[in-house]
Amino acid sequence: MGGVWFIQITALAFLLLAMTSAVRSCPPQDRANLLAFKSALHEPYFGIFDSWTGADCCHNWHGISCDLDTRRVADINLRGESEEPIYEKANRTGYMTGYISPAICKLARLSSITIADWKGISGEIPRCISSLPFLRILDLVGNKISGTIPPEIGRLHRLTVLNIADNLISGAIPASLTNLTSLMHLDLRNNRISGHIPRSIGRLRMMSRALLSGNRLSGRIPGSISRIYRLADLDLSRNQISGPIPPSLGKMAVLATLNLDMNKISGQIPVTLLGSAISDLNLSRNSLEGNIPNAFGARSYFTALDLSYNNLKGPIPKSITLASYIGHLDLSHNHLCGQIPVGSPFDHLEASSFVYNDCLCGKPLKSC
Ligand SMILES: *[C@@H]1O[C@H](CO)[C@@H](O)[C@H](O)[C@H]1NC(C)=O
Ligand SMILES: *[C@@H]1O[C@H](CO)[C@@H](O)[C@H](O)[C@H]1NC(C)=O
Ligand SMILES: *[C@@H]1O[C@H](CO)[C@@H](O)[C@H](O)[C@H]1NC(C)=O
Repeated sequence: MGGVWFIQITALAFLLLAMTSAVRSCPPQDRANLLAFKSALHEPYFGIFDSWTGADCCHNWHGISCDLDTRRVADINLRGESEEPIYEKANRTGYMTGYISPAICKLARLSSITIADWKGISGEIPRCISSLPFLRILDLVGNKISGTIPPEIGRLHRLTVLNIADNLISGAIPASLTNLTSLMHLDLRNNRISGHIPRSIGRLRMMSRALLSGNRLSGRIPGSISRIYRLADLDLSRNQISGPIPPSLGKMAVLATLNLDMNKISGQIPVTLLGSAISDLNLSRNSLEGNIPNAFGARSYFTALDLSYNNLKGPIPKSITLASYIGHLDLSHNHLCGQIPVGSPFDHLEASSFVYNDCLCGKPLKSC
């Protein structure tokens, strides 16, 4: 009787041991998919993939972490620039070539993918990435990735960060992108993205930063943007955007930075922009015309106000002296004329703020 008990208890102990180690190590399928992902990449300087050995990909594999409950791979975090010791020997700036293998899409529990600042990774974003239902972060900044934004990106309904800045992405912004209703941070800067900004972009209600500068976007600024009431930073600079500035942008509750410089924007400066929450306003190098609205007041607070290189005419409005603060002002290269108002916001400004106009005069330029 006692012998049977002993055997049963021993068997149970082995079973428990086997279960714990199975729970502790990563699933063999995840491990195989990580190795397939790795085999499409080449990283010669840091040796970050040297740690990708052994059965347990959840343990000490550089850049990999797993869900504590499921032990499935949850995060791939590979950065080309970091303060970590492993980066020291190669001057902290990495280089990696190859491409992102579609094997990554088989890691079905991935919550974040960061493959950033490797400078040399090319190829396209695997289309199948749209099928990762738990993905919250997709950060591929600073590579040489080409092709288009996956057309079904809108299926990633948990996505909060989409950063593909500083790559060679082309094509249009897919219509489905406006289905990413959890998106908070959109960074598409410095690519070759063309076409229009989707008219329904206002559906991205959670978005606080929309950075689209340095692309080939054309068409108008959709008025629906002003419905994104959390939006604090809108950068559409260095594109080919035309048409007027929607006045509703000046009524947004927390919009603090509005950069529209280097486009083909026409029409007048909306009155609303000058007494808004916006403190950093760059409208330089467009085709804005008419007078600067006489609409400054105590609510006007600008760390930077750049209206240079437009076709603005008339005087500098008297109300500008009512602004509570103007740190940096650039009205140069317009057709302004008349006496520069005198007041505290101007005491610190130099001639360069006013030069290359038709007939401005008074301090800090020559007297009238
Ligand atoms: C590291 O960077 C510094 C400054 O950028 C440079 O002068 C130096 O040559 C670099 N060293 C190596 C080993 O690349
Ligand atoms: C956006 O999502 C809705 C419902 O989830 C779907 O019917 C629609 O086709 C999607 N739009 C695009 C452009 O993918
Ligand atoms: C505004 O944009 C122009 C053109 O891109 C740039 O040269 C200028 O430095 C910007 N102004 C400010 C205050 O950042």
